[in-house]
Amino acid sequence: MKEGKIAKTEKTRVLPRVFNAIRGGLSTKLLVLTAIFVLVAESLIFVPSVANFRNGWLKDHLLIAEAASIVYLDSTDLMLSEEAGQNLLATTSSLSVAIRRDGISRLMAKSPGMGELVEHIDLDNTTAVGSIVSSLRMLFDEPDSQYRVFGTMRSTPAIMELVQETRYIQKAMWVYARNVAILSLLISVFTAALVYLALYRLIVLPIIRISSNMDAFSKTPENASLVYKPTTRIDEIGTAEKRLAAFQGDLQQTLRQKQRLADLGLAVSKINHDLRNILASAQLFSDRLSALPDPTVQRFAPKLIKTIDRAVDYTKSVIDYGRALEAPPKRRKLLLNTIANDVADMLGLENSLVIEWNNNIPLDFQADADPEQLFRVLMNLCRNAQQAMIDADLPGRAKKLTIQAEHLQGEVHIRITDTGPGIPENIQEKIFIAFEGSTKAGGSGLGLAIAVELLRAHGGTIEIENTDENGTTFHIVIPNEYQPQ
Ligand SMILES: Nc1ncnc2c1ncn2[C@@H]1O[C@H](COP(=O)(O)OP(=O)(O)OP(=O)(O)O)[C@@H](O)[C@H]1O
Ligand SMILES: [Mg+2]
Repeated sequence: MKEGKIAKTEKTRVLPRVFNAIRGGLSTKLLVLTAIFVLVAESLIFVPSVANFRNGWLKDHLLIAEAASIVYLDSTDLMLSEEAGQNLLATTSSLSVAIRRDGISRLMAKSPGMGELVEHIDLDNTTAVGSIVSSLRMLFDEPDSQYRVFGTMRSTPAIMELVQETRYIQKAMWVYARNVAILSLLISVFTAALVYLALYRLIVLPIIRISSNMDAFSKTPENASLVYKPTTRIDEIGTAEKRLAAFQGDLQQTLRQKQRLADLGLAVSKINHDLRNILASAQLFSDRLSALPDPTVQRFAPKLIKTIDRAVDYTKSVIDYGRALEAPPKRRKLLLNTIANDVADMLGLENSLVIEWNNNIPLDFQADADPEQLFRVLMNLCRNAQQAMIDADLPGRAKKLTIQAEHLQGEVHIRITDTGPGIPENIQEKIFIAFEGSTKAGGSGLGLAIAVELLRAHGGTIEIENTDENGTTFHIVIPNEYQPQ
């Protein structure tokens, strides 16, 4: 029900996004930019093509003049008859037509309206730049100005010369320029539309898909159906899609883990709450027990009371500090040997027939730490070592657990060494991460994670100094007088 609703909202959001994109988004920018770029490219070839057109027009007219006058070349008359001359001038749009051969110029036809010439165009010797400059000038010249154009004839080594009025060629050039401009515009719009469609499908549409998915996902990141489904593309967009999907997958896994921790925290608080009541009764009974005169009872009762007190303190601190956080350490100078003995006491190591317990810490050795928290750290490490050695079958080898400490450059270094089977290689990397590194049935994988957290609050560290089939050594460092930042 909920998912259906989400899918619908996502769909209804895509449409406005598409409209937005068309109005002012990437697609519109792409369309306009492509049209502009194509137009710029077209205009770069516009001017040379107009110059080219002009040269072609002039050459054509020289050819027409040549074709029309060739038959008169051998006649002896200086000029053509009036009628033939007028025909020649009309066909070639010229004011005069002349042929120069062997240095002698022969005027074939001439109209009366000849004036001053503004330009002489030699079609045998044109350059690209010269043609462009001259064509541009011609486009804006006075229509009734006159110019002379000449070039070698095709049929005979003579020069054909025409004098023409600018208006005819100018008109033809403007018509040509207008046609080229219209064609360029059409080509640019057509090309822009094609490029736009291609880019829209290749880039814009996937981006819209990605961003609307991110939108929906950010609202309900725990919804597995919203994890992006990447396409099979192998380009940059395909890579981005795959990364997004992987990122969302990771995020969901982290969220699930966090949820699990939160649930666990709640469960712990509930258990803790009731455990406190039970411990309170145990405290009451042990108080009464300590009043008995029996010497055995007198020996064990104080230990029992101390243990129960400690348990009550833990349950209290869990409630005080919001179930997840440890209380900040209350540091003071403590005797480390005593704490280690308390741990051994608690684990029953002192009278153990299986494990040989060696407390090598000098009696007066002092450390600067929270005694309760350091007790918990050592307790977790010693219990792990004890369990590893009890569980393991180590024929012919003494099972020993040794603790030693030294002061070094303002730090306390503690080493806990056992002769157990060593830590399996596949869990060594994740052993300090909560819930990750346990190999024991019934083990929660929290002991070392708790030790790391407590030591970090002291500015200290813990590491596996050595582990192999002969045993394991954990190395703890606690700086003296650590000042938290
Ligand atoms: N001294 C050791 N020798 C061999 N393996 C060890 C030793 N210390 C720890 N380990 C391995 O590291 C794992 C993680 O220890 P950790 O104390 O974090 O969790 P746990 O002991 O499994 O559970 P718990 O939360 O009850 O302590 C253990 O399951 C064990 O396999
Ligand atoms: Mg443990």
